[in-house]
Amino acid sequence: MAWTCGYVTQLDYSYGYYRELNPAMLRLVCLCSAIEPQLRDRPTYLELGFGQGLSINLHAAATDGRFWGTDFNPGQAVRARELAAASGADLHLLDDSFEEFAARTDLPDFDIIALHGIWSWISDANRRTILDIIRRNLRAGGVVYVSYNCLPGWAPAIPVRQLMALYGDYGGGQMTAPLGAVDGALQFSADVLKAGSRYFRENPSAAHHFERLSKQSRNYIAHEYLNADWYLVHFSDMARSLQEAKLSFVGSARLMDRIDGMHLTEDGRKLLSGIGHPVLRETVRDYLVNQRFRCDVFVKGPRSISGPRQRDAWHAQQFVLTRCPEDIPKKIGGSLGEFELSKEIYDPVITVLSESSYAPKRIDDLMASPKLRGIKMNDVVEALVVLTGAGFVSPAQSITEEIIERCQALNQHICRQALMSTDLAYLASPVSGGGILVPHICQLFMLALQQGKSNVAELANFVWEVLDSVGERLMRDGKRVQSNEENIEEFRSMAHRFLNRTLPLLQALKVL
Ligand SMILES: C[S@@+](CC[C@H](N)C(=O)[O-])C[C@H]1O[C@@H](n2cnc3c(N)ncnc32)[C@H](O)[C@@H]1O
Repeated sequence: MAWTCGYVTQLDYSYGYYRELNPAMLRLVCLCSAIEPQLRDRPTYLELGFGQGLSINLHAAATDGRFWGTDFNPGQAVRARELAAASGADLHLLDDSFEEFAARTDLPDFDIIALHGIWSWISDANRRTILDIIRRNLRAGGVVYVSYNCLPGWAPAIPVRQLMALYGDYGGGQMTAPLGAVDGALQFSADVLKAGSRYFRENPSAAHHFERLSKQSRNYIAHEYLNADWYLVHFSDMARSLQEAKLSFVGSARLMDRIDGMHLTEDGRKLLSGIGHPVLRETVRDYLVNQRFRCDVFVKGPRSISGPRQRDAWHAQQFVLTRCPEDIPKKIGGSLGEFELSKEIYDPVITVLSESSYAPKRIDDLMASPKLRGIKMNDVVEALVVLTGAGFVSPAQSITEEIIERCQALNQHICRQALMSTDLAYLASPVSGGGILVPHICQLFMLALQQGKSNVAELANFVWEVLDSVGERLMRDGKRVQSNEENIEEFRSMAHRFLNRTLPLLQALKVL
Protein backbone atom coordinates (compact mmCIF):
# COMPACT_ATOMS: atom_id res chain seq x y z
CA MET A 1 0.00 0.00 0.00
CA ALA A 2 1.15 3.59 -0.58
CA TRP A 3 2.64 5.62 2.29
CA THR A 4 -0.85 6.90 3.12
CA CYS A 5 -2.05 3.44 4.34
CA GLY A 6 -5.55 4.40 3.15
CA TYR A 7 -5.49 7.65 5.14
CA VAL A 8 -7.23 10.59 3.38
CA THR A 9 -4.34 12.86 2.40
CA GLN A 10 -5.69 14.66 -0.66
CA LEU A 11 -7.66 17.11 1.47
CA ASP A 12 -5.90 19.38 3.91
CA TYR A 13 -6.72 18.84 7.54
CA SER A 14 -7.98 21.92 9.37
CA TYR A 15 -5.68 24.26 11.33
CA GLY A 16 -7.12 23.34 14.71
CA TYR A 17 -5.65 24.25 18.07
CA TYR A 18 -6.28 21.99 21.07
CA ARG A 19 -5.50 23.54 24.43
CA GLU A 20 -5.97 20.19 26.21
CA LEU A 21 -2.53 19.27 24.80
CA ASN A 22 -0.86 22.17 26.61
CA PRO A 23 1.60 20.78 29.22
CA ALA A 24 0.17 23.24 31.76
CA MET A 25 -3.32 21.82 31.18
CA LEU A 26 -2.06 18.24 31.52
CA ARG A 27 -0.45 19.15 34.85
CA LEU A 28 -3.75 20.64 35.98
CA VAL A 29 -5.68 17.50 34.96
CA CYS A 30 -3.34 15.43 37.15
CA LEU A 31 -3.76 17.84 40.01
CA CYS A 32 -7.57 17.75 39.73
CA SER A 33 -7.37 13.93 39.96
CA ALA A 34 -5.11 14.07 43.04
CA ILE A 35 -2.25 12.62 41.00
CA GLU A 36 1.18 14.14 41.35
CA PRO A 37 2.13 15.88 38.09
CA GLN A 38 5.54 14.27 37.77
CA LEU A 39 6.52 16.39 34.76
CA ARG A 40 9.92 18.01 34.82
CA ASP A 41 10.23 21.80 34.51
CA ARG A 42 11.55 21.46 30.98
CA PRO A 43 9.60 18.42 29.76
CA THR A 44 10.33 16.42 26.61
CA TYR A 45 7.14 16.35 24.58
CA LEU A 46 6.05 14.24 21.61
CA GLU A 47 2.98 14.82 19.44
CA LEU A 48 2.10 11.95 17.12
CA GLY A 49 0.21 12.99 13.97
CA PHE A 50 0.45 16.77 14.49
CA GLY A 51 -1.69 17.60 11.42
CA GLN A 52 -1.04 21.21 10.42
CA GLY A 53 1.13 21.50 13.54
CA LEU A 54 -0.53 24.56 15.05
CA SER A 55 -0.92 23.04 18.54
CA ILE A 56 2.63 21.74 18.77
CA ASN A 57 4.06 25.01 17.45
CA LEU A 58 2.15 27.15 19.92
CA HIS A 59 3.07 24.87 22.82
CA ALA A 60 6.73 24.67 21.81
CA ALA A 61 6.99 28.46 21.51
CA ALA A 62 5.14 29.19 24.75
CA THR A 63 6.51 26.45 27.01
CA ASP A 64 9.99 25.68 28.17
CA GLY A 65 10.74 22.18 26.90
CA ARG A 66 12.07 20.01 24.11
CA PHE A 67 9.41 19.22 21.56
CA TRP A 68 9.19 16.48 18.94
CA GLY A 69 6.43 15.70 16.50
CA THR A 70 5.81 13.50 13.51
CA ASP A 71 3.18 13.42 10.77
CA PHE A 72 3.67 11.44 7.59
CA ASN A 73 1.97 14.04 5.41
CA PRO A 74 4.99 15.92 3.95
CA GLY A 75 2.98 18.97 2.85
CA GLN A 76 1.73 19.46 6.40
CA ALA A 77 5.21 18.89 7.83
CA VAL A 78 6.65 21.59 5.55
CA ARG A 79 4.07 24.17 6.64
CA ALA A 80 4.45 23.23 10.32
CA ARG A 81 8.25 23.63 10.00
CA GLU A 82 7.76 27.18 8.68
CA LEU A 83 6.07 28.08 11.96
CA ALA A 84 8.84 26.38 13.94
CA ALA A 85 11.49 28.30 12.01
CA ALA A 86 9.67 31.54 12.81
CA SER A 87 9.57 30.93 16.57
CA GLY A 88 13.00 29.33 16.89
CA ALA A 89 11.54 26.84 19.38
CA ASP A 90 13.35 23.63 20.35
CA LEU A 91 11.07 21.64 18.06
CA HIS A 92 11.89 18.70 15.80
CA LEU A 93 9.17 18.15 13.25
CA LEU A 94 9.52 14.96 11.23
CA ASP A 95 7.53 13.56 8.33
CA ASP A 96 8.10 9.96 9.48
CA SER A 97 5.27 7.48 9.59
CA PHE A 98 4.64 6.11 13.08
CA GLU A 99 6.48 2.96 12.00
CA GLU A 100 9.53 4.92 10.81
CA PHE A 101 9.46 7.04 13.94
CA ALA A 102 9.39 3.95 16.16
CA ALA A 103 12.52 2.66 14.42
CA ARG A 104 14.59 5.79 15.15
CA THR A 105 17.52 5.48 17.48
CA ASP A 106 17.90 9.19 18.28
CA LEU A 107 14.79 9.63 20.43
CA PRO A 108 14.90 10.93 24.00
CA ASP A 109 12.65 9.55 26.74
CA PHE A 110 9.47 11.60 26.68
CA ASP A 111 7.64 13.14 29.63
CA ILE A 112 4.52 13.66 27.54
CA ILE A 113 3.19 11.81 24.48
CA ALA A 114 0.06 13.35 22.95
CA LEU A 115 -2.12 12.17 20.09
CA HIS A 116 -5.25 14.03 19.15
CA GLY A 117 -7.59 12.73 16.45
CA ILE A 118 -5.38 9.76 15.57
CA TRP A 119 -6.33 6.56 17.41
CA SER A 120 -9.71 5.96 15.71
CA TRP A 121 -8.53 6.64 12.17
CA ILE A 122 -5.47 4.41 11.78
CA SER A 123 -4.89 0.69 11.23
CA ASP A 124 -4.47 -1.96 13.92
CA ALA A 125 -0.81 -2.20 12.97
CA ASN A 126 -0.35 1.54 13.51
CA ARG A 127 -2.11 1.40 16.88
CA ARG A 128 0.27 -1.38 17.89
CA THR A 129 3.20 0.76 16.74
CA ILE A 130 1.97 3.69 18.84
CA LEU A 131 1.63 1.45 21.88
CA ASP A 132 5.17 0.29 21.23
CA ILE A 133 6.42 3.92 21.06
CA ILE A 134 4.65 4.66 24.34
CA ARG A 135 5.95 1.49 25.99
CA ARG A 136 9.55 2.15 25.00
CA ASN A 137 9.81 5.94 24.94
CA LEU A 138 7.60 7.25 27.74
CA ARG A 139 9.51 7.85 30.93
CA ALA A 140 8.11 6.37 34.15
CA GLY A 141 5.85 9.03 35.61
CA GLY A 142 5.17 10.34 32.08
CA VAL A 143 1.77 11.42 30.77
CA VAL A 144 -0.17 10.30 27.69
CA TYR A 145 -3.01 12.31 26.17
CA VAL A 146 -5.18 10.41 23.70
CA SER A 147 -8.47 11.35 22.08
CA TYR A 148 -10.74 8.95 20.21
CA ASN A 149 -14.23 8.29 18.95
CA CYS A 150 -16.00 6.03 21.38
CA LEU A 151 -19.04 3.91 22.07
CA PRO A 152 -21.84 3.97 22.93
CA GLY A 153 -22.32 7.46 21.40
CA TRP A 154 -21.26 6.55 17.87
CA ALA A 155 -23.18 3.24 17.76
CA PRO A 156 -26.25 4.44 15.81
CA ALA A 157 -24.05 6.03 13.16
CA ILE A 158 -21.96 2.96 12.34
CA PRO A 159 -24.16 1.90 9.37
CA VAL A 160 -24.15 5.50 8.05
CA ARG A 161 -20.38 5.54 8.07
CA GLN A 162 -20.31 2.13 6.40
CA LEU A 163 -22.51 3.37 3.53
CA MET A 164 -20.34 6.44 3.03
CA ALA A 165 -17.10 4.47 3.12
CA LEU A 166 -18.42 1.77 0.76
CA TYR A 167 -19.44 4.43 -1.74
CA GLY A 168 -15.89 5.79 -1.51
CA ASP A 169 -14.47 2.31 -2.17
CA TYR A 170 -16.84 0.89 -4.80
CA GLY A 171 -19.23 3.55 -5.97
CA GLY A 172 -17.13 5.92 -7.98
CA GLY A 173 -15.32 7.58 -5.09
CA GLN A 174 -12.00 6.54 -6.61
CA MET A 175 -12.73 8.28 -9.92
CA THR A 176 -13.76 11.68 -8.67
CA ALA A 177 -11.86 14.49 -6.96
CA PRO A 178 -11.86 14.13 -3.15
CA LEU A 179 -14.65 16.65 -2.58
CA GLY A 180 -16.66 14.99 -5.36
CA ALA A 181 -16.29 11.68 -3.52
CA VAL A 182 -17.71 13.29 -0.36
CA ASP A 183 -20.66 14.76 -2.26
CA GLY A 184 -21.22 11.45 -4.03
CA ALA A 185 -21.16 9.50 -0.74
CA LEU A 186 -23.61 11.94 0.84
CA GLN A 187 -25.95 11.75 -2.13
CA PHE A 188 -25.73 7.96 -2.17
CA SER A 189 -26.59 7.71 1.54
CA ALA A 190 -29.44 10.21 1.05
CA ASP A 191 -30.79 8.02 -1.77
CA VAL A 192 -30.78 4.98 0.53
CA LEU A 193 -32.58 6.98 3.21
CA LYS A 194 -35.19 8.33 0.77
CA ALA A 195 -35.79 4.92 -0.79
CA GLY A 196 -37.74 4.05 2.37
CA SER A 197 -34.90 2.34 4.23
CA ARG A 198 -36.37 0.56 7.24
CA TYR A 199 -33.05 0.91 8.98
CA PHE A 200 -33.33 4.69 8.98
CA ARG A 201 -37.05 4.57 9.79
CA GLU A 202 -36.56 2.30 12.77
CA ASN A 203 -33.45 4.13 13.96
CA PRO A 204 -34.43 7.80 13.89
CA SER A 205 -31.20 8.81 15.62
CA ALA A 206 -29.26 7.47 12.59
CA ALA A 207 -31.43 9.59 10.27
CA HIS A 208 -30.82 12.67 12.48
CA HIS A 209 -27.15 11.90 12.50
CA PHE A 210 -27.13 11.84 8.71
CA GLU A 211 -29.03 15.13 8.48
CA ARG A 212 -26.53 16.84 10.78
CA LEU A 213 -23.66 15.23 8.93
CA SER A 214 -24.65 16.66 5.56
CA LYS A 215 -24.22 20.19 7.02
CA GLN A 216 -20.63 19.58 8.16
CA SER A 217 -17.53 20.71 6.27
CA ARG A 218 -16.56 18.46 3.36
CA ASN A 219 -12.96 18.19 4.62
CA TYR A 220 -14.16 16.93 8.01
CA ILE A 221 -16.49 14.42 6.34
CA ALA A 222 -13.68 13.08 4.15
CA HIS A 223 -11.40 12.53 7.16
CA GLU A 224 -14.11 11.04 9.38
CA TYR A 225 -16.09 8.95 6.91
CA LEU A 226 -13.92 8.06 3.93
CA ASN A 227 -10.74 6.91 5.65
CA ALA A 228 -9.79 3.26 5.20
CA ASP A 229 -9.78 2.86 8.99
CA TRP A 230 -12.39 3.76 11.57
CA TYR A 231 -12.06 2.12 14.91
CA LEU A 232 -14.57 2.53 17.72
CA VAL A 233 -13.97 1.41 21.26
CA HIS A 234 -15.53 1.66 24.66
CA PHE A 235 -13.47 3.45 27.28
CA SER A 236 -12.78 0.09 28.95
CA ASP A 237 -11.12 -1.21 25.73
CA MET A 238 -8.92 1.87 25.57
CA ALA A 239 -7.91 1.51 29.21
CA ARG A 240 -7.04 -2.16 28.56
CA SER A 241 -4.90 -1.29 25.51
CA LEU A 242 -2.93 1.32 27.41
CA GLN A 243 -2.54 -0.98 30.40
CA GLU A 244 -0.29 -3.06 28.11
CA ALA A 245 2.02 -0.04 28.00
CA LYS A 246 1.87 0.17 31.83
CA LEU A 247 -0.42 3.19 31.85
CA SER A 248 -3.22 3.94 34.31
CA PHE A 249 -6.20 6.20 33.71
CA VAL A 250 -6.05 9.56 35.44
CA GLY A 251 -9.07 11.45 34.14
CA SER A 252 -10.69 13.26 31.26
CA ALA A 253 -8.62 16.08 29.78
CA ARG A 254 -11.87 18.01 29.41
CA LEU A 255 -12.11 19.51 32.85
CA MET A 256 -15.83 20.14 32.57
CA ASP A 257 -16.41 16.38 32.44
CA ARG A 258 -15.63 16.49 36.16
CA ILE A 259 -18.60 18.66 37.01
CA ASP A 260 -21.21 15.96 37.57
CA GLY A 261 -24.00 18.48 38.09
CA MET A 262 -23.67 19.52 34.41
CA HIS A 263 -23.88 15.99 33.05
CA LEU A 264 -25.56 13.52 35.39
CA THR A 265 -29.01 13.23 36.89
CA GLU A 266 -29.27 12.52 40.59
CA ASP A 267 -30.02 8.85 39.84
CA GLY A 268 -26.97 8.70 37.58
CA ARG A 269 -24.75 10.17 40.27
CA LYS A 270 -26.09 7.71 42.83
CA LEU A 271 -25.49 4.81 40.48
CA LEU A 272 -21.91 5.87 39.77
CA SER A 273 -21.08 6.45 43.41
CA GLY A 274 -21.85 2.78 44.04
CA ILE A 275 -19.39 1.52 41.40
CA GLY A 276 -15.96 0.85 42.89
CA HIS A 277 -13.77 0.10 39.89
CA PRO A 278 -12.69 3.28 38.05
CA VAL A 279 -12.78 1.61 34.61
CA LEU A 280 -16.31 0.27 35.08
CA ARG A 281 -17.41 3.60 36.60
CA GLU A 282 -16.03 5.60 33.68
CA THR A 283 -17.57 3.21 31.13
CA VAL A 284 -20.99 3.41 32.79
CA ARG A 285 -20.62 7.21 32.87
CA ASP A 286 -20.26 7.10 29.06
CA TYR A 287 -23.60 5.25 28.88
CA LEU A 288 -25.19 7.90 31.08
CA VAL A 289 -24.03 10.80 28.90
CA ASN A 290 -24.02 8.86 25.57
CA GLN A 291 -20.33 9.71 25.06
CA ARG A 292 -19.06 9.90 21.45
CA PHE A 293 -15.62 11.37 21.84
CA ARG A 294 -13.17 11.12 24.69
CA CYS A 295 -9.98 12.99 25.53
CA ASP A 296 -8.19 10.96 28.18
CA VAL A 297 -5.09 11.40 30.28
CA PHE A 298 -3.12 8.34 31.37
CA VAL A 299 0.06 8.19 33.46
CA LYS A 300 2.81 5.59 33.63
CA GLY A 301 3.05 4.89 37.34
CA PRO A 302 0.71 7.54 38.80
CA ARG A 303 1.44 8.62 42.38
CA SER A 304 -1.47 9.85 44.45
CA ILE A 305 -1.02 13.01 46.42
CA SER A 306 -2.51 13.41 49.84
CA GLY A 307 -5.31 15.89 50.53
CA PRO A 308 -3.06 18.56 52.14
CA ARG A 309 -0.47 18.33 49.34
CA GLN A 310 -3.19 18.57 46.71
CA ARG A 311 -4.53 21.65 48.48
CA ASP A 312 -1.04 23.22 48.63
CA ALA A 313 -0.54 22.55 44.92
CA TRP A 314 -3.89 24.18 44.17
CA HIS A 315 -2.93 27.18 46.25
CA ALA A 316 0.35 27.54 44.37
CA GLN A 317 -1.38 27.43 40.97
CA GLN A 318 -2.02 30.75 39.23
CA PHE A 319 -4.91 31.35 36.84
CA VAL A 320 -5.45 33.97 34.16
CA LEU A 321 -8.46 35.03 32.12
CA THR A 322 -8.14 34.24 28.40
CA ARG A 323 -11.47 35.76 27.36
CA CYS A 324 -12.77 39.29 27.98
CA PRO A 325 -15.32 39.22 30.81
CA GLU A 326 -17.98 40.71 28.51
CA ASP A 327 -17.56 37.78 26.12
CA ILE A 328 -17.98 35.03 28.72
CA PRO A 329 -21.47 33.55 28.36
CA LYS A 330 -23.77 33.15 31.34
CA LYS A 331 -24.66 29.57 30.39
CA ILE A 332 -22.54 26.63 29.28
CA GLY A 333 -23.73 23.47 27.52
CA GLY A 334 -23.51 20.11 29.34
CA SER A 335 -25.01 16.67 28.74
CA LEU A 336 -28.13 17.71 30.65
CA GLY A 337 -28.56 20.88 28.58
CA GLU A 338 -27.64 24.44 29.47
CA PHE A 339 -25.88 24.94 32.79
CA GLU A 340 -26.35 28.38 34.29
CA LEU A 341 -23.17 29.87 35.78
CA SER A 342 -24.30 31.10 39.19
CA LYS A 343 -24.15 34.91 39.15
CA GLU A 344 -23.26 35.04 42.84
CA ILE A 345 -20.10 32.98 42.30
CA TYR A 346 -18.97 33.45 38.70
CA ASP A 347 -19.43 37.22 38.40
CA PRO A 348 -17.13 38.09 41.33
CA VAL A 349 -14.59 35.40 40.36
CA ILE A 350 -14.40 36.81 36.81
CA THR A 351 -14.31 40.40 38.07
CA VAL A 352 -11.43 39.70 40.45
CA LEU A 353 -9.54 37.78 37.77
CA SER A 354 -9.78 40.85 35.55
CA GLU A 355 -8.46 43.23 38.22
CA SER A 356 -4.91 44.66 38.18
CA SER A 357 -4.93 44.55 34.36
CA TYR A 358 -5.70 40.82 34.26
CA ALA A 359 -2.58 39.83 36.25
CA PRO A 360 -2.54 36.05 37.00
CA LYS A 361 -3.93 35.18 40.44
CA ARG A 362 -3.82 32.36 42.95
CA ILE A 363 -6.85 31.08 44.83
CA ASP A 364 -5.67 32.98 47.91
CA ASP A 365 -5.64 36.22 45.90
CA LEU A 366 -9.23 35.54 44.90
CA MET A 367 -10.34 34.55 48.40
CA ALA A 368 -8.71 37.69 49.86
CA SER A 369 -10.89 39.96 47.74
CA PRO A 370 -13.89 41.51 49.53
CA LYS A 371 -15.88 40.76 46.36
CA LEU A 372 -15.69 37.03 47.21
CA ARG A 373 -16.64 37.41 50.85
CA GLY A 374 -19.04 34.65 51.91
CA ILE A 375 -18.19 32.39 48.96
CA LYS A 376 -16.80 28.97 49.86
CA MET A 377 -13.39 27.96 48.60
CA ASN A 378 -14.79 24.76 47.03
CA ASP A 379 -17.15 26.88 44.94
CA VAL A 380 -14.26 29.06 43.78
CA VAL A 381 -12.25 25.96 42.86
CA GLU A 382 -15.22 24.56 40.92
CA ALA A 383 -15.70 27.90 39.14
CA LEU A 384 -12.02 27.88 38.10
CA VAL A 385 -12.33 24.30 36.85
CA VAL A 386 -15.46 25.14 34.81
CA LEU A 387 -14.02 28.38 33.39
CA THR A 388 -10.75 26.64 32.51
CA GLY A 389 -12.58 23.68 30.99
CA ALA A 390 -14.68 26.05 28.90
CA GLY A 391 -11.57 27.87 27.65
CA PHE A 392 -12.19 31.22 29.35
CA VAL A 393 -9.42 30.81 31.93
CA SER A 394 -6.05 29.11 31.75
CA PRO A 395 -3.48 27.97 34.29
CA ALA A 396 -0.68 30.56 34.23
CA GLN A 397 3.00 29.62 34.24
CA SER A 398 6.25 31.39 35.07
CA ILE A 399 7.71 33.21 32.10
CA THR A 400 11.23 33.53 30.75
CA GLU A 401 12.69 36.05 28.29
CA GLU A 402 13.25 33.20 25.79
CA ILE A 403 9.58 32.23 25.91
CA ILE A 404 8.53 35.84 25.32
CA GLU A 405 10.91 36.20 22.38
CA ARG A 406 9.76 32.95 20.76
CA CYS A 407 6.08 33.80 21.17
CA GLN A 408 6.54 37.29 19.76
CA ALA A 409 8.45 35.98 16.75
CA LEU A 410 5.80 33.33 16.06
CA ASN A 411 2.91 35.75 16.57
CA GLN A 412 4.46 38.26 14.20
CA HIS A 413 4.84 35.57 11.56
CA ILE A 414 1.22 34.44 12.00
CA CYS A 415 -0.06 38.05 11.85
CA ARG A 416 1.89 38.64 8.63
CA GLN A 417 0.29 35.47 7.21
CA ALA A 418 -3.07 37.07 7.99
CA LEU A 419 -2.44 39.42 5.03
CA MET A 420 -2.83 36.40 2.75
CA SER A 421 -4.84 33.79 4.58
CA THR A 422 -7.37 33.23 7.32
CA ASP A 423 -6.10 29.76 8.28
CA LEU A 424 -4.45 30.47 11.63
CA ALA A 425 -6.78 31.80 14.32
CA TYR A 426 -4.54 31.39 17.39
CA LEU A 427 -1.47 33.17 18.75
CA ALA A 428 0.98 32.08 21.44
CA SER A 429 0.79 33.35 25.01
CA PRO A 430 3.86 33.12 27.26
CA VAL A 431 1.50 33.39 30.23
CA SER A 432 -0.83 30.49 29.42
CA GLY A 433 1.92 28.42 27.77
CA GLY A 434 -0.33 27.82 24.78
CA GLY A 435 -2.61 29.29 22.13
CA ILE A 436 -5.12 32.13 22.49
CA LEU A 437 -7.96 32.63 20.05
CA VAL A 438 -7.22 35.80 18.05
CA PRO A 439 -9.52 35.99 15.01
CA HIS A 440 -8.24 37.10 11.62
CA ILE A 441 -9.40 40.73 11.80
CA CYS A 442 -7.81 41.15 15.25
CA GLN A 443 -4.53 39.81 13.84
CA LEU A 444 -4.74 42.53 11.17
CA PHE A 445 -5.39 45.13 13.87
CA MET A 446 -2.25 43.89 15.62
CA LEU A 447 -0.27 44.33 12.40
CA ALA A 448 -1.64 47.85 12.08
CA LEU A 449 -0.48 48.66 15.63
CA GLN A 450 2.98 47.35 14.80
CA GLN A 451 3.07 49.70 11.82
CA GLY A 452 2.47 52.68 14.07
CA LYS A 453 -1.29 53.07 13.54
CA SER A 454 -3.00 53.69 16.83
CA ASN A 455 -6.55 55.02 16.68
CA VAL A 456 -9.87 53.52 15.62
CA ALA A 457 -9.93 55.20 12.20
CA GLU A 458 -6.36 54.19 11.36
CA LEU A 459 -6.91 50.57 12.38
CA ALA A 460 -10.20 50.35 10.48
CA ASN A 461 -8.67 51.88 7.30
CA PHE A 462 -5.72 49.50 7.47
CA VAL A 463 -7.97 46.43 7.61
CA TRP A 464 -10.28 47.81 4.95
CA GLU A 465 -7.38 48.43 2.55
CA VAL A 466 -6.01 44.91 3.12
CA LEU A 467 -9.36 43.23 2.49
CA ASP A 468 -10.39 45.57 -0.34
CA SER A 469 -7.12 44.86 -2.17
CA VAL A 470 -8.07 41.18 -2.42
CA GLY A 471 -11.73 41.85 -3.14
CA GLU A 472 -12.91 40.66 0.32
CA ARG A 473 -15.94 42.09 2.06
CA LEU A 474 -17.48 41.55 5.47
CA MET A 475 -20.24 39.01 5.71
CA ARG A 476 -23.49 39.81 7.52
CA ASP A 477 -26.23 37.20 7.92
CA GLY A 478 -24.47 35.07 5.31
CA LYS A 479 -24.37 37.92 2.74
CA ARG A 480 -21.50 40.10 1.55
CA VAL A 481 -21.71 43.67 2.77
CA GLN A 482 -21.17 45.51 -0.52
CA SER A 483 -20.88 49.23 0.17
CA ASN A 484 -17.47 50.62 1.14
CA GLU A 485 -18.99 52.89 3.80
CA GLU A 486 -20.80 50.04 5.53
CA ASN A 487 -17.62 47.92 5.55
CA ILE A 488 -15.53 50.75 7.00
CA GLU A 489 -18.20 51.56 9.57
CA GLU A 490 -18.24 47.96 10.73
CA PHE A 491 -14.42 47.85 10.89
CA ARG A 492 -14.51 51.00 13.01
CA SER A 493 -16.78 49.42 15.55
CA MET A 494 -14.58 46.29 15.56
CA ALA A 495 -11.45 48.42 16.00
CA HIS A 496 -13.12 50.24 18.90
CA ARG A 497 -13.92 46.94 20.59
CA PHE A 498 -10.41 45.66 19.88
CA LEU A 499 -8.66 48.70 21.38
CA ASN A 500 -10.88 48.92 24.43
CA ARG A 501 -11.61 45.31 25.26
CA THR A 502 -9.35 42.83 23.49
CA LEU A 503 -6.04 44.67 23.47
CA PRO A 504 -5.65 45.00 27.28
CA LEU A 505 -6.25 41.26 27.64
CA LEU A 506 -3.81 40.35 24.84
CA GLN A 507 -1.23 42.62 26.48
CA ALA A 508 -1.74 40.90 29.84
CA LEU A 509 -1.31 37.52 28.15
CA LYS A 510 1.84 38.92 26.51
CA VAL A 511 0.55 37.92 23.11
CA LEU A 512 1.94 41.24 21.86
C1 LIG B 1 -7.29 13.56 11.92
S1 LIG B 1 -5.69 14.22 11.66
C2 LIG B 1 -5.38 14.97 13.22
C3 LIG B 1 -4.30 15.98 13.12
C4 LIG B 1 -4.01 16.75 14.41
N1 LIG B 1 -3.60 15.89 15.48
C5 LIG B 1 -5.23 17.56 14.78
O1 LIG B 1 -5.99 17.10 15.64
O2 LIG B 1 -5.42 18.64 14.20
C6 LIG B 1 -4.64 12.79 11.68
C7 LIG B 1 -3.21 13.08 11.31
O3 LIG B 1 -2.46 11.88 11.45
C8 LIG B 1 -1.55 11.77 10.39
N2 LIG B 1 -1.29 10.32 10.21
C9 LIG B 1 -2.19 9.36 9.90
N3 LIG B 1 -1.59 8.16 9.81
C10 LIG B 1 -0.28 8.35 10.09
C11 LIG B 1 0.85 7.50 10.17
N4 LIG B 1 0.73 6.20 9.94
N5 LIG B 1 2.04 8.03 10.49
C12 LIG B 1 2.16 9.38 10.72
N6 LIG B 1 1.12 10.25 10.65
C13 LIG B 1 -0.08 9.74 10.35
C14 LIG B 1 -2.27 12.40 9.20
O4 LIG B 1 -1.39 12.86 8.22
C15 LIG B 1 -3.05 13.51 9.86
O5 LIG B 1 -2.35 14.74 9.82
